[in-house]
Amino acid sequence: MSVSWALPFDKEIRIKSNKEIDINTYKKIHEASITDVKSFWSSVATELDWFKPWERVLDDSNPPFYKWFVGGELNASYLSVDRHARGWRKNKVALIWEGEPLDNNGNPKEVRKLTYQDLYREVNRVAYLMKERYKLKKGDTIAIYLPMIPELPIFMLAAARLGVVFTVVFSGFSSDALANRINDAEAKLLITADGGWRKGKIVELKNIADKSLEKTPSVRHVIVVRRTGAKVNMVEGRDEYYDDVMKDVPLNTYVEPERVKSEDPLYILYTSGTTGKPKGIVHDTGGYMTLLHATMKWVFDIRDEDVYWCTADIGWVTGHSYIVFGPLMEGATEVMYEGALDYPKPDRWVSIIERYGVSVLYTSPTAIRSFMKYGDSWIKSHDTSSVRLMHSVGEPINPEAWEWFWKLVGREEIPFGSTWWMTETGGIMISHLPGLYLIPLKPGTNGMPLPGIQADVVDDNGNPAKPETRGYLVIKQPWPGMPLTIYKDPERYVNVYWSKFPNMFYAGDYAVKDDDGYFWVLGRADEVIKVAGHRLGTYELESALIEHPAVAEAAVIGVPDPIKGEVPYGFIILRQGYSPSPQLTQEILKTVREKVGPIAVIDKVFFVGKLPKTRSGKIMRRVVRAVITNSQVGDITTLEDEASVDEIRKAYEEFK
Ligand code: WT7
Repeated sequence: MSVSWALPFDKEIRIKSNKEIDINTYKKIHEASITDVKSFWSSVATELDWFKPWERVLDDSNPPFYKWFVGGELNASYLSVDRHARGWRKNKVALIWEGEPLDNNGNPKEVRKLTYQDLYREVNRVAYLMKERYKLKKGDTIAIYLPMIPELPIFMLAAARLGVVFTVVFSGFSSDALANRINDAEAKLLITADGGWRKGKIVELKNIADKSLEKTPSVRHVIVVRRTGAKVNMVEGRDEYYDDVMKDVPLNTYVEPERVKSEDPLYILYTSGTTGKPKGIVHDTGGYMTLLHATMKWVFDIRDEDVYWCTADIGWVTGHSYIVFGPLMEGATEVMYEGALDYPKPDRWVSIIERYGVSVLYTSPTAIRSFMKYGDSWIKSHDTSSVRLMHSVGEPINPEAWEWFWKLVGREEIPFGSTWWMTETGGIMISHLPGLYLIPLKPGTNGMPLPGIQADVVDDNGNPAKPETRGYLVIKQPWPGMPLTIYKDPERYVNVYWSKFPNMFYAGDYAVKDDDGYFWVLGRADEVIKVAGHRLGTYELESALIEHPAVAEAAVIGVPDPIKGEVPYGFIILRQGYSPSPQLTQEILKTVREKVGPIAVIDKVFFVGKLPKTRSGKIMRRVVRAVITNSQVGDITTLEDEASVDEIRKAYEEFK
């Protein structure tokens, strides 16, 4: 659990809004919405364009495998592009994209603006390629490993058009991580690029992918998008350049959007945990799109005149939901960027706001805390007055960072929330709802569950926790956007999420509700680490560590960090014949980078002789963590050897 600050439960901030509502009124409205979630969500879903209406709102005959809007048919690509391209939004800009590198004055050298018409054309042309050239059909799976360039949403939308299930692999993952995901998903096609730009360097995606492709028998074809112009290895008969294969596809190509069933999968997104390989979370189409529609309106208050910007990477769920499908289905104009928020200078992000007049901003606590570190002047030298609403996501936001950002960018007058949700929920579950009813703000809180979402905080027995007492965050009724399952592992889906408490979805987070009923998510209750808001499983990191020949055993824990929220520390037992050295540390860290990817930076490595274990041999990471964070070690009656605790303490003291 990463929260170490005092929570200002009672600090209430009211801002002017015609949507303002007091908390008790909201509670009544919310109460009414969850007495009958079926009819509540059914009325929301009618706002979407369905090819065929559903027959049943919710099939709950086989819990927890719920199916929303059964019998309904729709298409996520149709909703996101066709409707706009054929109507008055045809010439409206959908995507404003700016790339890295920037010039010496911090101006982008490349900007692409795609209207809904442009997007529609490209999506259709790519769908044509997938269908005719690569013979993909509904239910097939593909993998996408691209940098933040417009082709990324285009490929996702093209796949969705055909009912082809895609899995996007974040470009910060390595060849092993990519290979594992491709193999689990049995992807037939991989889309990658000759590279992407990040902080002045080229991320060599194709070279990394080449290594994966040595062990991914399912992949028959690889499409390579030219981005950096770097020369890459092309395998005859398997690899083709995107521009080459697109050359002959006419501009006016039209591919009929597949009528997919509401409960047909849209995508698989892998998320790692503390045990076992990454879980392929499968999202449906109808429920997912319904939740995105609702949250774009209620949480982001999205309007046609807005310029919306979500600073996440599309490789994570935030980007899937709130860069690709959410904003586009609402016909919004949005910003997308390649590179980093603080490169070449710490004001890249503010200059983006200024350049395009961003009005709705969705960013992360880690980003906010790093801006804070750089200082106010970088912000003050730009005009950010276009921003009218903001939210953060990914990890708890400390009240100081909240207040600082709200003053400086929010002018102490605009709504600013911390939306809680996760890969599994598909979309936002707990928030302030400035587009619907605005409850008073409190710095650092997540707000209240959305209408139609029955979230709660419960104690160890699954009973509602007392106010201002820590418990577990759960969701007590099915919601649209919930997972269909874990890909090829329904049993695990039941075990991980639906077994801790009967009939409740267990999120894996600690939370408290304050006296007013506001939710405050405190951090993970399991051993998942959140680095800069990105979820890293201890399992993936530990497996990477023990791949190094010198490593016999390893434990990884998350330790609080002032900027990134948490950073991983690794504790290692060396094999006989090896002794600790800075060089060995470097080598081991290199292995992790190669196995998991550049996002998996282990902050510190400690060499120990013993690790705290249970008598059955399970490493007790919570004990390691308690020693490092100097907190209560808790129950150690199952500990096999207490000397291991001293070992950890000693190693850490020496380092300090
Ligand atoms: C975990 C989910 C969903 C978008 C990005 C992360 C943490 C997320 C908040 C918030 C406190 C938060 C939780 C959750 N989390 N948003 N506003 N306040 N914690 O998705 O990678 O699936 O991670 O992120 O611990 O379980 P994810």
